[in-house]
Amino acid sequence: MNMKSITLITLVLLIAVGVYLAISPTSRPSSNVAIGGDFSLTTPMGEMVSNESLKGQMRLVYFGFTYCPDVCPMGLQIMQTAMEELKDENIRAFFITVDPERDTPEHLATFMENFPDIIGLSGTPEQIKQAAKSYRVYYRKVEDEKSPDSYTMDHTSLIYVMDENGHYLAHFPHTADPRQIINSVRKAAKSS
Ligand code: NI
Repeated sequence: MNMKSITLITLVLLIAVGVYLAISPTSRPSSNVAIGGDFSLTTPMGEMVSNESLKGQMRLVYFGFTYCPDVCPMGLQIMQTAMEELKDENIRAFFITVDPERDTPEHLATFMENFPDIIGLSGTPEQIKQAAKSYRVYYRKVEDEKSPDSYTMDHTSLIYVMDENGHYLAHFPHTADPRQIINSVRKAAKSS
């Protein structure tokens, strides 16, 4: 091997290390994901709820729709169980519909009677789009002959734990153990 090729190999190695160092910090998943932010929605009773109006309160947030056959009811039951244990904490729980067309205020109010510690929220299609965007939630109307009005909704099915400023703390699947949510809230409440 002559001097010239050693220099070339060294150069290639230096570039490789440089590229690796430049890429590696950004290629790691960030723990500070920007989930949460501005939204403005309405309870079935007509009360406005926004990120601003909830300032000072922790929140559990879940997006779904009342005609969901099993995923949403399961997620909401887990939230309800967690909320019953969290009565001494400054926290509120919300179910945001992604199907305002069928989830009218009357219908949403009746459905939420099954989950007395969770507040149903709806809004205009634009307001719901904005809220879902804030939480990075995906939803989409899908044709389904078996469903009322021949459609169902595809949607992200995650329970978000948010701090008293509306900042993301954690998320859990709709199959989570309520204990996990309770522990996450208690831990955050203790440290704030
Ligand atoms: Ni669902």
